[in-house]
Amino acid sequence: MKSFVCKGDICYSKDKTSLETIKDGYLVCENGVSAGVFSEVPMAYQNLPLLDFTGKLIFPGFIDLHVHAPQYRFRGLGMDLELLEWLDTHTFPEEAKYADKEYAKENYQKFVWEMRRSPNTRACVFGTIHRESTEILMELLAESGLGAFVGKVNMNRNSPDSLREESAEASAAETVRWIQEVSGKYERVKLILTPRFLPSCTDVLLRKLGEIQKEYHLPVQSHLSENRSEVAWVQELFPNSSCYGNAYDSFGLFGGENCATIMAHCVLSGEEEIALMKKRNVFIAHCPESNTNLASGVAPIRRYLQEGMSVGLGSDVAGGTKCSLFFAMAEAVRASKLRWRLQDDSLAPLTIPEVFYMATKGGGAFFGKMGSFEKGYVFDACVLDDRAYGKQAEFTISQRLERAVYLSQDGDIIHKFVDGIQLF
Ligand code: GUN
Ligand code: FE
Repeated sequence: MKSFVCKGDICYSKDKTSLETIKDGYLVCENGVSAGVFSEVPMAYQNLPLLDFTGKLIFPGFIDLHVHAPQYRFRGLGMDLELLEWLDTHTFPEEAKYADKEYAKENYQKFVWEMRRSPNTRACVFGTIHRESTEILMELLAESGLGAFVGKVNMNRNSPDSLREESAEASAAETVRWIQEVSGKYERVKLILTPRFLPSCTDVLLRKLGEIQKEYHLPVQSHLSENRSEVAWVQELFPNSSCYGNAYDSFGLFGGENCATIMAHCVLSGEEEIALMKKRNVFIAHCPESNTNLASGVAPIRRYLQEGMSVGLGSDVAGGTKCSLFFAMAEAVRASKLRWRLQDDSLAPLTIPEVFYMATKGGGAFFGKMGSFEKGYVFDACVLDDRAYGKQAEFTISQRLERAVYLSQDGDIIHKFVDGIQLF
């Protein structure tokens, strides 16, 4: 059933600053695409089946712009460490275990279940260096009905033997084989090139990935200017690059018309890097919980929004601990307030409409027309039962959404739609 009408208390973004809300409204799905939101069902749609969610909140599914599927298993560990120490102590040893396909299947299944019941409908996901395990992850995501970009990670230096590809040539060859095996295989699960971050990849590997990008026109995801010691290390490793972003750019892996790119974090980006991201429309995945947990700092998101840059939210599990982007929304507001109070009072804290926009239409733009209920947008929707938070009648729809950001719990999402298909 890809054409139907949903009735309920509807909430979505058209722009960064305001929320559109309609009580007892009608949201029309026509062949998997939104035909718009109405206060009465228009004549043309009166014969469609009606799904009655009266009293429930209906909003576009969230888009997690940055998450590591293999890290789901150890989330919550090492949150008293800083980034590079956390990678060495917990992350690399755990990711090495995904050489075992059975282990990968068991644990990726748990990640996919968690994502399925969360308010997220789409995500940009890191796998590991292991091609076959990454293919298992893609298969599981496809079976779940969720939408995703998934990356086989590239790493050929600065990690233990158990999590390092043999050579730049071997890493590139596995990547090409992966592309050939899974390109076009799934409707909603797509490939994305995923060099882990600059310290993990030699110049030769990065050059080869740039060539692969040009040949196959794949999008790119990675990490950028996250943490002080990481940024200092990149400066040592790439002495000829004027900034972290410039180094990616010198290999053709930093945005532009034919190279859609997401960079996670951008906490410490300087003027040159910001200008380049803007010029190339590099998407920023803001991961506020991770940035606090790993002592990275707080990205100047208000500035990025003011500059008209493309910004979405990421859980960055397991730098972050929760898959639900409601949690990331709350963390984004909190972190921005501390930044404003303690670091730079010229950038006002983020608002709820702004973080909701980032979780929906902002990040959704990376996927296409997604993350809104405006006419023509792909029909991805969640239905949330917020009765447990107290008497709904006392609150407006915006206030109910705002409370969901802070109070929502596992199981609150009672129905979910992706591409107009009801998952539950
Ligand atoms: N930089 C390189 N790898 C990682 C990772 O797994 N998580 C985070 N937060 N940053 C990284
Ligand atoms: Fe990350």
